[in-house]
Amino acid sequence: MSDSQRDSDQHIRLFIPGPTEVRPEILDAQTRWMIGHRMPEAAELFGRVQEKLRQVFLTESRVYVTASSGTGWQEGAVRNLVARKALNCVNGAFADRWREVTEANGKANAVLEAPWGEPIRPEAVVERLAGGEFDAVTIVHNETSTGVVSPIQEIAAAVRALPNGEEITILVDSVSGLSGAELRFDEWDLDMVFTSSQKAFALPPGLAFAAVSDRALAKARTVENRGYYFDIVDLEKYLLRNQTPATPAISLLYALDRQLEDMVAEGMPARFARHLAMRDRTITWAQERGFSLFAAEGYRSPTVTCVTNDRGLDIGALNQYLRRHGMIISNGYGPLKGKNFRIAHMGDTTMTELDELLATIDGYLNSEA
Ligand SMILES: Cc1ncc(COP(=O)(O)O)c(C=O)c1O
Repeated sequence: MSDSQRDSDQHIRLFIPGPTEVRPEILDAQTRWMIGHRMPEAAELFGRVQEKLRQVFLTESRVYVTASSGTGWQEGAVRNLVARKALNCVNGAFADRWREVTEANGKANAVLEAPWGEPIRPEAVVERLAGGEFDAVTIVHNETSTGVVSPIQEIAAAVRALPNGEEITILVDSVSGLSGAELRFDEWDLDMVFTSSQKAFALPPGLAFAAVSDRALAKARTVENRGYYFDIVDLEKYLLRNQTPATPAISLLYALDRQLEDMVAEGMPARFARHLAMRDRTITWAQERGFSLFAAEGYRSPTVTCVTNDRGLDIGALNQYLRRHGMIISNGYGPLKGKNFRIAHMGDTTMTELDELLATIDGYLNSEA
């Protein structure tokens, strides 16, 4: 489809933390002829995708692909991998949603809370886990509501150093982090990490990906009531023949296959570095204009910057202005609405595009002055 058919007049470039901008060639990849999910062509497609997903998750383990959004895996993680009691680490809205999901699935839990804007700290996690009460911990890598990245590598190392550290299942939501904010599944010794397609993967919504360690899969085989759609024991059985138990979202898999080519070609170190550079540019821009940052220093997200609204801007009016220029950012999340605004710099967004956004916001600030 050409861009004119797609109606470029109505194109509003997304600088919101999901869904993110999807390039035209990736959108187009979805229009290939349909195939049946038990045909050899589908197995080839699934196999190709699996190979590349492992390179993105930096793992030699498996990565399950589901026709769902990331919330599905918040549920799948606790259903498969909480046997006795979960420690839910909560430092923002999405971490709190995972607590809610844990409870909605009838799992015993306790909460480790950190103030919004702060990361989850390794010392606090191990202090709670040391008693031996918990067999799993849930942590959000990149809190989209606050723009905070938690030190997953340090947390995992501290957990593994506990006497019972090998028995604790480390569950990580990297929905708005993975492939933008550094995460190394094998090297950091994690058990499950999941993400959604519509964030730093820069794909349409509708797919979710979950990497699972051998240790976690072995544990799941002993857990009762794993549920059905996200049962990793069943998903594994099908993955071994490059299939899924239920009908996959084939058009989205075409787009994923195409997008992963480019992600792998860019390489994960370069991808992480590009996101960090965009984060730093956004932070400098904000500070030079008299704004402070909501996230604690040292823990600012590479994919989304949460700018404190120190100048008392009308964020709705700012976004109306941006829309007229074909762009959009996000207001603060939930209780932070109006108090801050969020600029996403994730996926395939380039520094040039980010600079255009920041210059357009400058245009608004100057018109206000
Ligand atoms: C950190 C985090 N976790 C979970 C979710 C829920 O993901 P989804 O909307 O793909 O279900 C989001 C959505 O923004 C998120 O940012």
